[in-house]
Amino acid sequence: MLGLEGKTAIVTGAGRGIGRDIALTLGEYGVDVAVVDVDIAGAGETVSQLVGMGRAGLALECDVSDTGQAQRCIDEVLKWHDQIHILVNNAGITRDNLLLRMSEQEWRSVIDVNLTGTFNFTKAVSKHMIRKRYGRIVSISSVIGLMGNAGQGNYAASKAGIIGFTKAIAKELAARNITVNAIAPGFIETAMTASLPEKRREEMQGMIPLGMFGTGRDVSNIVVFLVSELGGYVTGQVIHCDGGMVMS
Ligand SMILES: NC(=O)c1ccc[n+]([C@@H]2O[C@H](COP(=O)([O-])OP(=O)(O)OC[C@H]3O[C@@H](n4cnc5c(N)ncnc54)[C@H](O)[C@@H]3O)[C@@H](O)[C@H]2O)c1
Repeated sequence: MLGLEGKTAIVTGAGRGIGRDIALTLGEYGVDVAVVDVDIAGAGETVSQLVGMGRAGLALECDVSDTGQAQRCIDEVLKWHDQIHILVNNAGITRDNLLLRMSEQEWRSVIDVNLTGTFNFTKAVSKHMIRKRYGRIVSISSVIGLMGNAGQGNYAASKAGIIGFTKAIAKELAARNITVNAIAPGFIETAMTASLPEKRREEMQGMIPLGMFGTGRDVSNIVVFLVSELGGYVTGQVIHCDGGMVMS
């Protein structure tokens, strides 16, 4: 019914966290996943879990901000499987600082990984998807790209950039049966949020109408919708996954 059985996906930054949840959820629905990460040990662990579920996985060490490495990843995946149906641009970093203290390096590294990484993989996979007349591309933005946050000018710019990029490329690729969407998660339960002091957790929960943090599964469920037959008529959209933090 979802039409995902036997499809092939690439998920960047899937060596842990939300990316791993996305890879494993796609695996549950019958998708083979190429797991891309700078952390090859983490990528290998995700692949082991996919294989444990009876799926095929391929771990690829790659810095998404490097155009040549991104192209090599796509080439490797096409040696492994003959079609790439799904790309999830998930790899992302933060280097927080207030504007007057933010170094050029902090600015550039976040733009390079979060935004240029998304461009690199989207461009490299598009050539193939256009030939096949089929593709599903999802990029992970953030609530911070919608509402901003003091101390995160670089991150907010990169995540807002993903939204503009998504809409432009959705228009370019629609005629080739390729959908391009973004997801804007709010506060998602991760190793980082788990280690926050209780008082800070309560403050953050107070900002969420549903009163709780989301999970990687909340994000990966939306990915499944967008890349399956259920979401085939949705393109150029930003789906908020934030417990109601941003309503528009
Ligand atoms: N956790 C949240 O609350 C939250 C909220 C909104 C958006 N997001 C976004 O979701 C995505 C995943 O977040 P997370 O919390 O799971 O992060 P995380 O730090 O736990 O995982 C990120 C993964 O990306 C990999 N990575 C980092 N730089 C890379 C590079 N240059 N090339 C390839 N891989 C690289 C890391 O090794 C890691 O495995 C990010 O894009 C993040 O901005 C997270």
